[in-house]
Amino acid sequence: MDYSGFFTDEAVKLEILRKRAYNMRWAEQPEGVLPMTAADPDFPACPEVVRAIKDYADAGYFSYTPGLGLPEFKEAIAGALKRRKNEDVDPAFVLPIDSAARAMHVTAAMILQPGDEMIVWDPVDFLFRASCESAGGKAVLFPTILNEEGKVDISRLEEYVTPNTRMIGLCNPHNPVGSLYSKKDLELLLDIADRHGLWIMSDEIWSDIVYPENEFLSLFDPRVKGNKERVIGIYGFSKTFGVAGLRIGCIYCTNKELFDRIVDASGVLSTAGGIASICQVAGAACMNEGFDYFDAFLKHLTANRDYAWERLNAIEGISCRKPQATYLMFPDISSTGMRSEELTAHLLDKAKLAIVPGSKRFFGPGAEGHVRICIATSRGILKEGLDRFEYGLSLL
Ligand SMILES: Cc1ncc(COP(=O)(O)O)c(C=O)c1O
Repeated sequence: MDYSGFFTDEAVKLEILRKRAYNMRWAEQPEGVLPMTAADPDFPACPEVVRAIKDYADAGYFSYTPGLGLPEFKEAIAGALKRRKNEDVDPAFVLPIDSAARAMHVTAAMILQPGDEMIVWDPVDFLFRASCESAGGKAVLFPTILNEEGKVDISRLEEYVTPNTRMIGLCNPHNPVGSLYSKKDLELLLDIADRHGLWIMSDEIWSDIVYPENEFLSLFDPRVKGNKERVIGIYGFSKTFGVAGLRIGCIYCTNKELFDRIVDASGVLSTAGGIASICQVAGAACMNEGFDYFDAFLKHLTANRDYAWERLNAIEGISCRKPQATYLMFPDISSTGMRSEELTAHLLDKAKLAIVPGSKRFFGPGAEGHVRICIATSRGILKEGLDRFEYGLSLL
């Protein structure tokens, strides 16, 4: 199928988004405001996924599913992890779950006792700190620094390990910085975790959105050497397939002992937790039939990224690195002299543009001096959003 018409201005159905897209997006904004906030595409999901949902619903049965997930869904996930990202994961050790956010909370609750420390990058998506703290843990902030290749540098990570450290939270690729990790650094991470007996929460939700000149490397890639017995992989379908409201995610690992602990912590066998049947069916369609659509989406995103990068850097006083991955731009706005929350309030008020401030609440204190702009939209909306950004700054 030719998906080239999927990512046009006409494809974005604003009248539907204004009713359905929450979490700081269209349905939550005042009239006339353009949101480039939560990382959620403005495009409809791919037709194969919509068809799979319809077919399942048409059959009329919505019975209980296996606690450990539909076998065909687990196999589809493991197959795609191998095919697309060279990750070695046995389908038997994949647990479908209702969202990556839930997977992070389950993982933190399973590993952390009150007072235990988890190393959390600063800045990074708030869910790392939130999941740690909800388990009673203490988030120890490790500064996000980039090396000369623009990759996240973890050479000083070990300095942050204390006798209370139990887990390291890895965001690979990194939101909001949009960077990848080198093989050397991932091996260093495994080595540190192994020597100190630490667990690794490896969140790979952004691992498909990697621009063509870069390569994603997972801890589960056999080329990355080290002990992976304590690595807990997490993936979610929201970013790649635009299905955030379906709440589809999974947790995976390399051994039965850990898998059994994950299952226990998730509550799926007691039926108190788990993922809806129709979401598993949709997820399997994403994995088995959704990547042609996704490849066209990535092509569109690559052009959007290049366009947004040029536009942002052309604005006086603004500098922005080119993301290696993710559909997030994270420009440095410190030369405005405003705090990021002040600037986003100004842009909302004067330019009718909603973007995410680089504040402690969303990413940690290290995000200050930046804002985050989501570019998973059509070119026309992106241009309008950047025009508003530029206009708002020109008023300062
Ligand atoms: C790094 C990271 N992890 C997890 C999530 C949550 O994903 P889900 O929609 O599957 O809960 C997000 C969403 O923005 C994210 O950026």
